[in-house]
Amino acid sequence: MIIYNERERVFKLDTPNTTYMIGIVDEENFVGHIYYGRRLREADASCLMRTEEPPFVPSKNNRERCSFYDCFPFEYPANGLGDYREGCLGVRTAAGHVGCLLSYRSHEIIKGKPALEGLPATFGTEEACTTLKLVCEDNYAGMQVELLYTVFHDTDVITRSVKVINTGSDALFLTKVYSACIDMDNRDFDMVSLHGSWARERHIQRKPIGYGIQNVSSFRGESSHQDHPFLALVDKNTTQENGEIYAMNFVYSGNFRAQAEVSQFDSVRMTMGIHPENFCWKLESGESFQAPEVVMVYTDKGFDAMTGIFHRLYRKHLIRGEYRNKKRPILINNWEATYFAFDTEKLLSIAKEASKLGIEMLVMDDGWFGKRNFDDCALGDWTVNEDKLKGGLKYLVDEVNKLGLKFGIWFEPEMISPDSDLYRAHPDWALAIPGRPGTESRQQFVLDLSRQEIVDAIYGQVAAVLRSANIEYVKWDMNRQLSDIGSCGLPADRQGEIYHRYVLAVYQMQDRLTKEFPHLLLENCSGGGARFDPGMLYYSPQIWCSDDTDAIERLAIQEGTALIYPLSTMGAHVSDCPNHALGRVTPFETRGIVALAGTFGYELDVTKIPQEDREMIPDQVAMYHKYNDLVREGDYYRIASYAQNHRYDCWQVVDAERDEALVTFVQVLNRVNFKSMRILLKGLDENKHYNVVFVNDEGIEPKVYSGDTLMKAGLLIPYWKGDFKARLIDLRAVQD
Ligand code: GLA
Repeated sequence: MIIYNERERVFKLDTPNTTYMIGIVDEENFVGHIYYGRRLREADASCLMRTEEPPFVPSKNNRERCSFYDCFPFEYPANGLGDYREGCLGVRTAAGHVGCLLSYRSHEIIKGKPALEGLPATFGTEEACTTLKLVCEDNYAGMQVELLYTVFHDTDVITRSVKVINTGSDALFLTKVYSACIDMDNRDFDMVSLHGSWARERHIQRKPIGYGIQNVSSFRGESSHQDHPFLALVDKNTTQENGEIYAMNFVYSGNFRAQAEVSQFDSVRMTMGIHPENFCWKLESGESFQAPEVVMVYTDKGFDAMTGIFHRLYRKHLIRGEYRNKKRPILINNWEATYFAFDTEKLLSIAKEASKLGIEMLVMDDGWFGKRNFDDCALGDWTVNEDKLKGGLKYLVDEVNKLGLKFGIWFEPEMISPDSDLYRAHPDWALAIPGRPGTESRQQFVLDLSRQEIVDAIYGQVAAVLRSANIEYVKWDMNRQLSDIGSCGLPADRQGEIYHRYVLAVYQMQDRLTKEFPHLLLENCSGGGARFDPGMLYYSPQIWCSDDTDAIERLAIQEGTALIYPLSTMGAHVSDCPNHALGRVTPFETRGIVALAGTFGYELDVTKIPQEDREMIPDQVAMYHKYNDLVREGDYYRIASYAQNHRYDCWQVVDAERDEALVTFVQVLNRVNFKSMRILLKGLDENKHYNVVFVNDEGIEPKVYSGDTLMKAGLLIPYWKGDFKARLIDLRAVQD
């Protein structure tokens, strides 16, 4: 619900448990942030803006106007006029000047949620959400700025985005346009972010914030392995179950910056948006720029509550398509099985064995096109290599289908190898700075997707392959970060638009793909999980989590990913041992149990693995079919974190009725001469009784406990010998 109190000039935005308040101040119409937190009954908190106490006094205090600008809690701060904290908006006029400041002009309260042109965004019906469009202006710069706020009625989320319109007669250059800002009092917050690297994505990091600026960012052209477009400011005492959290997540897949700046007066400005480095967007008179969306979550109930809010929002209001609520086919991918060394015969031998074991789809990974027998050539030549695939693609797909398996295929559409027919024909299609040698990464360049003719040509090639056979799944990969940001398709004063135009083009291609092939299951990927973000989730219901498929390394990666994203989105496979990335050996059973927390599949040569492992696959397949509805749709709770305790990991999923739950316990390192572990379960009904079955340990007798006992007193995990071992515990409500 959104209400405007005209007398107080206050907007009150309510979700079920939170309130966000914005005030208009003074005859100059400054727009200030009043409050964000637990839901308030009344809209009478405007005094929190302290406009009566110096130096917060608005324009009447002209002697100290600069001081006012430098401490007022701006709803959307600009720059150059006396607010020395970092602003959200940077504009350069045709004359080269940079100052700007916004004031309120008008507003509209709209039922539902308008789409953002060309961009992924959360969505909701007129019943599900309400939107405030706050129109601000700077008449000196000749510009209008629309601040969009959507409140969801069924979950504690407020989304924000910003549109800048050039209302003047000359061109304007946007040098920065963030999407969200909260200016609030600092409360000795910690900041929580997700950091990583290739094969070590999204590890949770928590640290205190101090005076000055601290941020996480990417200017690699993608959301990146290294930092994640997520930032939370949390109370020092916040735990899984309790405490305040202000979280922001960016629905965008390119450069970003998420920042907390603590000022001299102990206020904190939390911002998120497109990274301003190398960003400069030219707006001709009348043109507009739409910035992507930020999802904001506030809770005072700790990380479990925050996670639940993000999961529910993304499952209901972001992910689309046929598979969003559907069980995904269990796939087997040939990457770690064969790398580039495969042919029709090899793939069919894998498919044949897989079909006997209950696997449902074969995915042909990198190496099926052009002359690609290694990663040094042929990206851009999306025609089938018939030396490898004798009889062609359709023959292979038909044969796989005859075995009862679906067929999926890998593409890396955004790239071009210097050694490719495409590059030989169009050397200017790669991003490049004229006259400077291009920087290769994995021996490839990035296509200049800011040019529509290139987007059309590549889309045409990809679509032609998909039309040629019964292909039901695509893995869309992106295996290098952007560099050499130059396009021969844009004039000098638009070169600063390339990064964003590139992301828009990726969205456009995936939009076309999902519209032309509505039944296709799309899985995004980027050298593992470098583009696992809400932007990509809008197009694909699942994303490959990491190239590290080791079950133990996956614990921290999946814990960090699941902090925000539903388990249904996390690409997770059982792979061969010793693990190809790490060299570690873990039991096949543990690999299956850890992969069960994601989309589930295999990434190994099923014709070559040890017989005893192969024999376990039908049971794992049955386990997937039994539990996937619960894993995909259930509420997820973190019980223990190996990343924190260095010994064991534990998580739980519970269905909406609180009748069924599944607990996964992984004993990473055993300890000699020690007691059994006690875990406190969550999300159960304290009035129900549950039959507790240790699924993969028949030696432990099933027993009935009350939800109350399991949540307050806990459950013992009997001592058992060995490292890297995993247990599944099934709980079902019984009639009293
Ligand atoms: C990336 C992916 C892998 C695989 C290779 C193929 O690294 O993450 O799963 O598809 O590319 O080159």
